[in-house]
Amino acid sequence: MRRTGRTTVAQAKAFEEVGPKVLLDYRCAALDLTVTFGRDAPTVFEIGFGMGEATAHIAALMPETNFLCCEVHTPGVGALLKRIAEQDLRNIRILQQDAVEVIDQMLLPDQLAGIHIFFPDPWHKKKHNKRRLIQPPLIARLATRLKPGGTLHCATDWQPYAEQMLVVLAAEPLLSNTATAQRGGYADKPAYRPLTKFENRGLKLGHGVWDLVFERRPPPTATSASAVAPSPAGSPSGSGLG
Ligand SMILES: C[S@@+](CC[C@H](N)C(=O)[O-])C[C@H]1O[C@@H](n2cnc3c(N)ncnc32)[C@H](O)[C@@H]1O
Repeated sequence: MRRTGRTTVAQAKAFEEVGPKVLLDYRCAALDLTVTFGRDAPTVFEIGFGMGEATAHIAALMPETNFLCCEVHTPGVGALLKRIAEQDLRNIRILQQDAVEVIDQMLLPDQLAGIHIFFPDPWHKKKHNKRRLIQPPLIARLATRLKPGGTLHCATDWQPYAEQMLVVLAAEPLLSNTATAQRGGYADKPAYRPLTKFENRGLKLGHGVWDLVFERRPPPTATSASAVAPSPAGSPSGSGLG
């Protein structure tokens, strides 16, 4: 899935000049992040960066982190390429591709330090809710791509979607919520996420914004693993019926 659209002259120039250095080809093969970024560094995967305002801000703030970013909308890709040129950002690579295909075909387990999903399309109408990105099967696959301790950060300004996100993320066994129950399971906005123009406008109108930050659980230790170890050969295993 690619969404074309009208690009500005400046975006088209950025495609020509910066594109070859930053745009990655989609392939049905695992991505070697060290080769892709030319260095071994923690990598954050971003889904749906829109016009790239938050992406460029965060990448400038964290030059020691790699940002692997997916967006299907051509003018959005052009806009981020333009920001990369203007700010001389060296730590962003872009895939103009459906992020779901990238997760399934190009990302390996235990690879990512973080995942950002900021303001995914809310699909307001009930009959369209099934098109939302945050659904249990995708989150289950995405969680495996995080390293233990890596974080999945979602944000939305649509309360029903925030509630769905909280239910889906809390139900994923590989993830644990970094927020306390005090704020109903929602996190304080991490300092690195900027208030974008769009978000500021909403806040001025009195709309809410919800951040969710979940962490990939550490692998089970020998002790916790032995608690679920199979029973010795010959002895009946528990049926779970007591
Ligand atoms: C509502 S916009 C939010 C953009 C940006 N994150 C922000 O905070 O302003 C959602 C973006 O996600 C992109 N998108 C939706 N589904 C996607 C997918 N499966 N893979 C990559 N991008 C996707 C859309 O093209 C759109 O630009």
